[in-house]
Amino acid sequence: MHIWQANNAGGARSASLSARLSAIAESLPRGGVVCDVGSDHGALPLFLLENGWCRHAIVTDLNPEPLARAKAALTSAGIAHKAQFFLTDGILDVISLSPDTFVIAGMGGETIAGILSRALDRIPLNTGFVLQPMSRAHLLRKFLYENGFSVEGEQAIGENGKVFLIFRARFDGVRRERDPEFYLVGEYLSQTKGEGASLYFEKRLAKVRSKIVGKEKAGFDVSLEKKEEALYLSQLEAINENS
Ligand SMILES: C[S@@+](CC[C@H](N)C(=O)[O-])C[C@H]1O[C@@H](n2cnc3c(N)ncnc32)[C@H](O)[C@@H]1O
Repeated sequence: MHIWQANNAGGARSASLSARLSAIAESLPRGGVVCDVGSDHGALPLFLLENGWCRHAIVTDLNPEPLARAKAALTSAGIAHKAQFFLTDGILDVISLSPDTFVIAGMGGETIAGILSRALDRIPLNTGFVLQPMSRAHLLRKFLYENGFSVEGEQAIGENGKVFLIFRARFDGVRRERDPEFYLVGEYLSQTKGEGASLYFEKRLAKVRSKIVGKEKAGFDVSLEKKEEALYLSQLEAINENS
């Protein structure tokens, strides 16, 4: 069983990043080559290079303005020579540079799954991924398990009333089929300590309960939603027991 291990127990060195980006930085292996896909502001590669947490960064974005923002941030910090910049969609054009880890953060779960799906037959075995979906995490989880990614950890990070899931995965080509309920919760969040995971399931619970109220009013069957509600309650119970 893998429990999420932060690289930096104190987290002090990543204080200049948001809690979300900090958790992403801390989950990366030190000293490697990182590809930040959809980098935008460039805060992550800036932090990693300035602090020597990675030796080289590949910085990409689909759109010219965000890529220019990232390039400007690294240039004004005097570290652009440690990075390469690519205006490109997803990871296909940079896969041959063989980064140790791809970070794909701040996009919808389906967008992230789409990026991975389009490159699936070219991803080298053992490539690492740190993925942070802004929505539809269950769809990304299903995609990962069923398409050859070994999910090594999941973490929930609360920040300003929001909660962000972060997946750590490695491509090993082994497809894993799980049941639909599994994809709603995964295997790690209920074992994590801290408030993030409970906040995450409390939010899921509130959402499914409001769906139940709406559907019951309209006279629809709510048996699936009731199952989902019970699932989230059991996760919250497990988290309470572990804390
Ligand atoms: C909300 S920003 C996230 C920035 C940063 N990764 C973060 O987590 O803070 C999303 C960025 O992803 C870029 N993006 C969206 N789809 C993309 C794709 N298919 N390939 C590369 N970049 C993409 C957008 O242009 C935008 O700059």
